[in-house]
Amino acid sequence: MQLEPATDADIWLTEALETDPRVMVELGGPHTIELARAAHRRRVAGIEAGNWWFKILPEPGAPPVGTIGIWRAEWAGEAISETGWMVLHQHQGRGHASAALAVLLDLARKDGRWGDIHAFPGVTNTASNSLCRKLGFELIETVEADYADRILHCNHWVLRARRPRRTRRGVGPTTQDEIRPPR
Ligand SMILES: CC(C)(COP(=O)(O)OP(=O)(O)OC[C@H]1O[C@@H](n2cnc3c(N)ncnc32)[C@H](O)[C@@H]1OP(=O)(O)O)[C@@H](O)C(=O)NCCC(=O)NCCS
Repeated sequence: MQLEPATDADIWLTEALETDPRVMVELGGPHTIELARAAHRRRVAGIEAGNWWFKILPEPGAPPVGTIGIWRAEWAGEAISETGWMVLHQHQGRGHASAALAVLLDLARKDGRWGDIHAFPGVTNTASNSLCRKLGFELIETVEADYADRILHCNHWVLRARRPRRTRRGVGPTTQDEIRPPR
């Protein structure tokens, strides 16, 4: 397992992931190719700004099977660190996301600047909720979030960097890009 920063050249990967109805089933359905391309450019630009956004290589030199990252976001008016992940449909169920998240969290712990790390999978997103549980996140609430104009019912998980901190309940924005407060 290797994580490599995503680049402009990986735009095909974001297109393949985010226009695939099977990958996007828990995220309100597939995005248009234009939306996927815009998201890719925004996230690559976000790397310059200090966010982490990696492609997942099952082994060094192998073609990527998905993406994973941590970025600065806002939740209920507070700055947070948020993580998220996607694996190509044909590569799912083989442990790639589990291995990638373990590596990512290890890097984040060593880096030390991310603090508590939040994740917002849909409540019926079995694989993502399993990942959070398995990697030591704590489920603190369920929330409504606007993901690219779709209202999603999400679990709010937190991996504590240190001692527990109070988090406000309710509706709010989550990610760097697609998620906004419901209108
Ligand atoms: C979530 C996702 C990245 C998992 O990737 P993956 O490489 O298949 O995950 P893994 O093989 O490491 O499995 C992780 C866990 O999910 C479970 N799982 C995997 N696919 C599953 C499925 N289709 N249904 C139910 N559980 C599933 C695995 O059993 C494992 O749980 P366990 O360790 O408790 O047994 C992948 O399903 C995906 O890309 N989903 C669509 C995008 C998405 O929803 N992203 C999350 C946004 S928050």
